[in-house]
Amino acid sequence: MKKILFLLLIFCFSACYKNNKKQILSSPDGKTEICFALSNGKPSYSVKKAGKAILNPSQLGFVLTNDDSLDADFEIISIKTDSKDETWQQPWGEEIEVRNHYNEMKIELQEKNEKKRLINIVFRAFDDGIGFRYEFPEQENLKNFEIADELTNFALAQNDSAWSIPAYKGEYYEILWKKNPVNTLDTVVTPLTIETSDGKYIAIHEANLTDYAKMNLYPSGESTLKVDLTPWSNGIKVYAQTPFVSPWRTIILADDLNRLVNARIMLNLNEPSKIKNTSWIKPAKYTGIWWGMHKEKYTWAQGPKHGATTKNTKAYIDFAAAHHLSGVLVEGWNYGWDGDWVANGNLFSFTKPYPDFNIDEIAKYAATKGVDIIGHNETGGATVNYENQLDSAFLFLTHHNIHTVKTGYVNQLLDKKERHSSQYAVRHFRKVIETAAKYQLVVDNHEPVMPTGLQRTYPNLMTQEAVRGQEYDAWSRDGGNPPEHTTIVPFTRGLAGPMDFTFGTFDFSNPVYPQTRVQTTIAKQLALYVVIYSPLQMASDLPENYENKPAFEFIEKVPTDWAKTIIKDGKIGDYIVTVRKDKYSGDWFLGAITDENARSLKVDLSFLDKNKSYKAKIFQDASDSDWKMNPYPMIIEEQEITSEATINLYLAPGGGTAIWIKEL
Ligand code: NOJ
Repeated sequence: MKKILFLLLIFCFSACYKNNKKQILSSPDGKTEICFALSNGKPSYSVKKAGKAILNPSQLGFVLTNDDSLDADFEIISIKTDSKDETWQQPWGEEIEVRNHYNEMKIELQEKNEKKRLINIVFRAFDDGIGFRYEFPEQENLKNFEIADELTNFALAQNDSAWSIPAYKGEYYEILWKKNPVNTLDTVVTPLTIETSDGKYIAIHEANLTDYAKMNLYPSGESTLKVDLTPWSNGIKVYAQTPFVSPWRTIILADDLNRLVNARIMLNLNEPSKIKNTSWIKPAKYTGIWWGMHKEKYTWAQGPKHGATTKNTKAYIDFAAAHHLSGVLVEGWNYGWDGDWVANGNLFSFTKPYPDFNIDEIAKYAATKGVDIIGHNETGGATVNYENQLDSAFLFLTHHNIHTVKTGYVNQLLDKKERHSSQYAVRHFRKVIETAAKYQLVVDNHEPVMPTGLQRTYPNLMTQEAVRGQEYDAWSRDGGNPPEHTTIVPFTRGLAGPMDFTFGTFDFSNPVYPQTRVQTTIAKQLALYVVIYSPLQMASDLPENYENKPAFEFIEKVPTDWAKTIIKDGKIGDYIVTVRKDKYSGDWFLGAITDENARSLKVDLSFLDKNKSYKAKIFQDASDSDWKMNPYPMIIEEQEITSEATINLYLAPGGGTAIWIKEL
């Protein structure tokens, strides 16, 4: 019945607008409207929400190489509509069930000139935003083609402010996010999160980036953002062959931060899992031989300070086993790290361990302790070398009972030539994920292209970096990540997917770079396990810094897989209060963090189940805590609570509160 009504509605709109060639598609709740128009053969679209313009008429189309335009002289040859309302289950995630509810309109266009080329534009309207993409059907006059420019733009109706990082300055999205008016932006990457003057959010990104270049945006005219595709080194943006589809261009339209973070457009616009049996893909917490290298206690390369020795790895395994952490990451175990490996462009071996790393002995030892080793394949950006070894690398890992691999691409350019966000890189990363799936390997990808929801199709792609993470707090010459950084990334980078940020520092001293440090209190370190989502979370500090620390109980207990996520309160760049329900118990966890300013917050606990009682174990800053002067003091207390209660939180400057709410 609903479907018939919807189709009638579509028919009515199509009929109403037929004369001036406008087609309107509404979201299931009727609040969001996409209007497609073809004027003088040129396609465009505009978007409204609750009657208010979000995007004014915005351009669509392409320029192919040799100045061959594919953006005008079109006529509509057919319009197809569809709708869907399905709920699917995530093997892991911020919530278990995802509703995929949309109305769709496919506009099939054909050039009126002698080339008669075909291009379809598919729009989907969801209650939490929109998506659209281009399809290039198989056809006589368009077979192999090269995209010189994608002309899509987003003509924002207002010049609001956006949180962004620049596209081509800096490394693999490891940059601090800044807020600026849209018309003053540099060329920036997506997700781009815009705060509107009436307190709402518009987030532009993309979904299902497959065999295409990453989308960046730059201002072209007052508050209009135009697509800029990362080029290959020869300037071409995308090599394509029909039939071909572009990634989805996505716009989340959210009235509040909770809806922004819980919008699932990106996941819904990726294809269902290609991995049928996902039982081997398990969220986890891990520790590892890692922070010691960043703090220069150890080296990756062999030598007197080598970190990845058999003895040291066994000690980490013992620590993990004693504290219920399921994994131990080991970096610097293989040949390739010697000398200045980045500058020299060393070619790593992924099957040859250093002599002081006895992998057979370690694999056996880990198995007796019930701990999983997490393998590490740093490629130094040499993807050809990696692809040549991919099968042997993955066989080597699985042969040693290793089922998770952290990959890395430290180098500005891949193979000294291509950018991490180019089609070249996108192809490589996909090859690694697909090959890993074949070997039942989970991937944690560092220095990746920005995620676009591909974890729905390949749930073995569990987490990625693409963020200025905790490592900057060890050695960054600018002093480390400022306190506001983690109050921004959940609403920007976080919209793209899980982040391997690797917090958990308990020792704030830094003998090598005394001017650089983790700019938080201990309580904030704990709260970050709830605030920043990743199904793989690291307890990154050295084991000795966790011994006999009561605060470590929170890291032991906090889950990495959730039934539900709610943003209770927040302001981008200032503070955030996140609550999540454990997937496997009735327990809830709360994480609240602030920027450099102290804050007192009241949180109502109405999210708890009504007729249940709970015991809250609260890990919070003391009244004299301060990230800069006094980061260590913390108060741990217990309180019985119900859903009727309200809890008062005090967050010190750069501080936070973490709460384990245990169902009684
Ligand atoms: C950068 C990664 O982000 C970090 O986690 C890793 O330790 C180093 N590269 C070395 O691979």
